[in-house]
Amino acid sequence: MIQIRDYDHLEFYVGNAKQSAYYYRAMLGFKLVAYAGLETGVRTHASYLLQQGDIRFVLTTPYGPEHPAADHIKLHGDGVKAITLAVEDVDGSYNETIAKGAKSLQNPTTLEDKNGSVRMASIATYGDTIHTFINRKNYKGIFLPGFEPIKKDTLCRPVALQFLDHVVGNVEWNKMDTWVQYYERVFGFHKFWSVDDKILHTQYSALNSTVMSDKTEKIKFPINEPAPALKKSQIEEYCDYYRSAGVQHIAMHTDNIVETVSKLRENGAEFLHIPGNYYETLLDRVGKIDEDVKTLAKLGILVDRDEHGYLLQLFTKPIEDRPTVFLEVIQRKGGKSFGIGNFKALFESIEREQAARGNL
Ligand code: FE2
Repeated sequence: MIQIRDYDHLEFYVGNAKQSAYYYRAMLGFKLVAYAGLETGVRTHASYLLQQGDIRFVLTTPYGPEHPAADHIKLHGDGVKAITLAVEDVDGSYNETIAKGAKSLQNPTTLEDKNGSVRMASIATYGDTIHTFINRKNYKGIFLPGFEPIKKDTLCRPVALQFLDHVVGNVEWNKMDTWVQYYERVFGFHKFWSVDDKILHTQYSALNSTVMSDKTEKIKFPINEPAPALKKSQIEEYCDYYRSAGVQHIAMHTDNIVETVSKLRENGAEFLHIPGNYYETLLDRVGKIDEDVKTLAKLGILVDRDEHGYLLQLFTKPIEDRPTVFLEVIQRKGGKSFGIGNFKALFESIEREQAARGNL
């Protein structure tokens, strides 16, 4: 079984990384830490490394149609290309996953410059998404060869997001079990949590979801598939617009969701609207909580409880024009689940948005 230390970073392929970076910095609180592009000797693409707490996002834009990112953007729009995982042993992780049936996209390779070396290798997962194994231990530079540090980011408006909680994949009809088995067989992951359409449905739409996790339960990959219902599942809408399976949402943890969401709203972030009556019965459902219900209602923060404790969460609207990728802000106060008690309110909210797009 491969040993994963942590998430290293997520790489997005985007149409205009310079402009996207502004959105992540001024609205979502990320700091521009490093840049790679023509000025740093990189002739094929520009990449911006953004960081907040332990969360690292890389936004990459190709300089021309011959770069593989160009076809990716043409087909999928802006989206997550690589979920990069920090490992001790890149070669071992690559060899083991390939032996267990993963498709190779990049043999183990060393990137080097005067600051040292980085070992990387990549395999395929759902859709055109990839997993890259990386070890940056022997590298003293800011991030990777080609990147130069940015001394000061005057645009960053921090919102105190701390680390990645989970990264969710949407897959096509009847494909969830295939990908669940992929993570079991290839990665040695286990089922952390799962829920089916008997629970995960509204009057109109439904989905199945299984969360796969590594041994330490630091890495969590929920996999969703559409399920039959009266109208179109949000997962199907995603796959229609992304033109394949792909990353649906990225959940980021904060220690103080009230403060984080207040700042995000001040910065202009748009969240799914939850009707006021959700809060009328909230305390009956979840019992005693530390937060003031009026404040949660004002900010649109959802709460759910499981046998371990409770969690607070909320979801942005899609962060690009295609109704595909969105973000989640989550604070866990003991709660280990994924907000099952909130699915109904949430799905009804998503359905209102789908209807407004003419896609329900
Ligand atoms: Fe989530």
